[in-house]
Amino acid sequence: MRTIVLAILACASALAADTCVECHSVLEGPLQKPAALFPKQDVHARHNFTCVDCHGGDPTQTDPDASMNKAKGFKRGLNRTSIPALCAKCHSDANLMHKFAPQQRVDQYAQYQTSVHGKLLAKGDDTVATCVDCHSVHDIREVKDGNSPVHPLRLPETCARCHSDAELMTKHKIKSDQFAEYRTSVHWEALAKRGDLSAPSCASCHGNHGATPPAVSSVAAVCGTCHVLYENLYNKSPHQPVFSSMGAGGCTVCHGAHAIQHPGPSMLAGENAVCAQCHDAASNGGAEAIKMAVAIDKLSAELERAGGLLEKARSAGMEVSEAQMKHGEGKEALLKARVAVHAFRAAPVENAANAGMAIAAETLKAGEQALKERDSRRVGLALSLITILITLAGLWMAIRVKDSQGEAAGPARR
Ligand code: HEC
Ligand code: HEC
Ligand code: HEC
Ligand code: HEC
Ligand code: HEC
Ligand code: HEC
Ligand code: HEC
Ligand code: HEC
Ligand code: HEC
Repeated sequence: MRTIVLAILACASALAADTCVECHSVLEGPLQKPAALFPKQDVHARHNFTCVDCHGGDPTQTDPDASMNKAKGFKRGLNRTSIPALCAKCHSDANLMHKFAPQQRVDQYAQYQTSVHGKLLAKGDDTVATCVDCHSVHDIREVKDGNSPVHPLRLPETCARCHSDAELMTKHKIKSDQFAEYRTSVHWEALAKRGDLSAPSCASCHGNHGATPPAVSSVAAVCGTCHVLYENLYNKSPHQPVFSSMGAGGCTVCHGAHAIQHPGPSMLAGENAVCAQCHDAASNGGAEAIKMAVAIDKLSAELERAGGLLEKARSAGMEVSEAQMKHGEGKEALLKARVAVHAFRAAPVENAANAGMAIAAETLKAGEQALKERDSRRVGLALSLITILITLAGLWMAIRVKDSQGEAAGPARR
């Protein structure tokens, strides 16, 4: 008990000794905010760092001139171009960092200097992102903290503060639609709506600190870090050498980069077909595309029919679990056919689809069988019900006849 009290007193006097916090707490607006935020919410405060570790000065002096003293290292007018080097004083110092976190990386500043942000900052453009634009300042949190601005769910908005600013981006001659597009994508849907943290946020494709758009030759590799099978097929396809010399290149030629939508056979054939941009229907590419679309469409329709029947049978109380498991294999075959599209030849898609069709036919039969059995059971049930009813009616009649005979004889007996 005594030691706890002493510890609390020691803490209180240590805090009271920080005249920076003491005085700034009673100031207003942007001068007060750091003192209000830092002690409670900043990861650095939790590791016992204080204002002077970044700003310099003497935290024991109550007089502003003595405490915010240049001779004691106080830096006035911290400008944005000096921030990365300030943070790097510790974050690039392996000896220091590993005392606190043995596994911590110490290459953030080095990486940052290779990014478009870092290169432009070095040229004096201070409208780009510095460390505090992504991590905030005075309330810097651990990156895994759900409230950190770099947490995957919050990161898109952090980048969008600048990248959706049309005026700023026009000045830099790039588009400002990445955030709006990304928010319509399958990736944001998986991340935000389904809580699937394996789906990419901005930094998964652009890097945390070395932020550059994936280079033309590396787009397939960026997507391939997660979609390996697709990348392998694509790299061996006739498109790879041609697409890698086009604009963004790679997967984005067909899927886009930010507004990626759920794909389907309508990308292969029909008025929205991506293939039609380059292959007319009469060409070999166009013909192959149509064959793939037909195979995939047929299989998915057939699987849907079989799945519907099995579900109907299941909800009628029939035992179809084995057929339903088989149906799962059919769906896997469909996925295989869709992956196989990336060889951009009809044969592998048709092979996978045919395997699926065989399964669909089998499960469809099982579903029909089960429903037939249900029907014949119903007929049987109805027949036995009728028999029971007839028997009951007969019994009732017999009782009534007996009763009326009794009634007729009754009064005479009494
Ligand atoms: C007695 C009050 C007082 C104390 C103690 C004090 N400050 Fe200040 N601080 C001020 C006031 C008032 C201003 C705004 C006027 C100015 O810039 O001098 C200010 C401004 C600042 C600024 C912005 C300066 C700029 O223009 O870049 C920083 C950063 C700062 N203080 C940090 C500190 C730190 C770190 C300490 C402790 C070593 C500290 N202050 C101690 C009152 C105080
Ligand atoms: C981890 C480093 C770090 C620590 C610790 C830190 N600051 Fe700062 N502070 C900065 C940076 C970087 C800026 C410049 C932010 C910018 O320009 O956006 C800044 C800016 C400021 C400003 C100017 C705000 C303005 O909008 O003009 C004040 C005042 C200030 N800090 C006070 C403090 C006080 C008081 C503490 C302790 C409670 C503190 N800082 C702790 C890094 C730090
Ligand atoms: C363009 C935004 C951006 C900038 C600029 C930025 N960071 Fe980061 N930082 C991130 C992201 C994103 C993460 C990873 C978050 C995660 O793991 O979920 C991160 C992670 C970190 C980590 C945790 C360890 C690690 O490397 O994963 C540290 C420490 C860090 N950054 C420091 C810095 C420093 C120091 C600077 C300036 C030199 C800086 N950051 C600049 C976005 C940024
Ligand atoms: C005086 C040394 C020092 C300075 C200056 C400093 N940091 Fe830190 N920082 C640390 C230490 C030590 C940790 C805690 C160890 C850890 O978790 O990495 C830390 C933690 C962090 C984390 C959390 C990392 C994680 O593991 O999630 C981020 C983010 C961060 N600092 C960013 C910054 C930024 C941005 C600046 C500049 C405004 C800065 N730091 C300045 C020493 C410093
Ligand atoms: C403080 C504003 C700001 C923030 C925050 C910011 N950026 Fe930037 N970013 C810029 C500016 C300004 C440019 C320079 C554009 C140019 O001239 O290429 C840029 C450039 C880029 C580029 C290179 C574009 C190109 O083709 O030249 C990429 C990629 C990028 N940012 C990604 C990101 C990501 C991802 C995030 C969030 C993790 C982010 N940025 C956060 C301001 C910001
Ligand atoms: C699935 C991967 C992926 C994700 C997620 C992603 N990007 Fe991109 N981004 C790319 C690719 C690939 C390019 C290059 C192709 C292009 O220019 O369309 C690119 C290009 C960019 C550019 C440069 C645009 C230009 O006109 O030069 C910026 C800026 C950018 N992205 C910002 C962001 C931001 C901000 C987010 C999050 C809201 C984000 N990106 C999410 C893959 C991604
Ligand atoms: C960090 C991992 C990661 C990266 C990088 C990534 N993706 Fe994804 N992608 C996912 C996850 C997770 C899903 C959601 C899977 C699901 O719906 O089951 C997904 C879904 C998709 C889908 C929709 C699949 C469907 O069934 O509807 C497409 C298309 C797609 N990604 C294409 C791309 C392209 C193109 C790139 C590169 C520009 C890319 N992805 C980069 C992880 C990633
Ligand atoms: C030439 C156009 C084209 C290119 C290039 C391309 N795809 Fe596709 N992708 C398609 C088409 C078409 C489909 C839809 C197949 C279907 O469902 O009928 C598709 C479907 C997908 C799917 C979803 C499969 C499913 O389960 O529905 C993912 C994921 C995917 N592609 C990822 C990638 C990746 C990663 C790359 C780069 C390595 C890439 N794609 C390159 C045309 C393309
Ligand atoms: C951006 C233009 C472009 C798009 C989009 C595109 N291709 Fe191609 N495709 C080419 C080029 C260029 C070649 C290689 C030159 C050649 O052999 O015709 C090629 C080659 C092929 C070939 C082999 C060449 C042959 O004639 O035997 C097939 C098959 C093919 N593409 C199918 C598709 C399918 C399917 C899609 C849609 C999923 C598609 N392509 C989308 C441009 C495109």
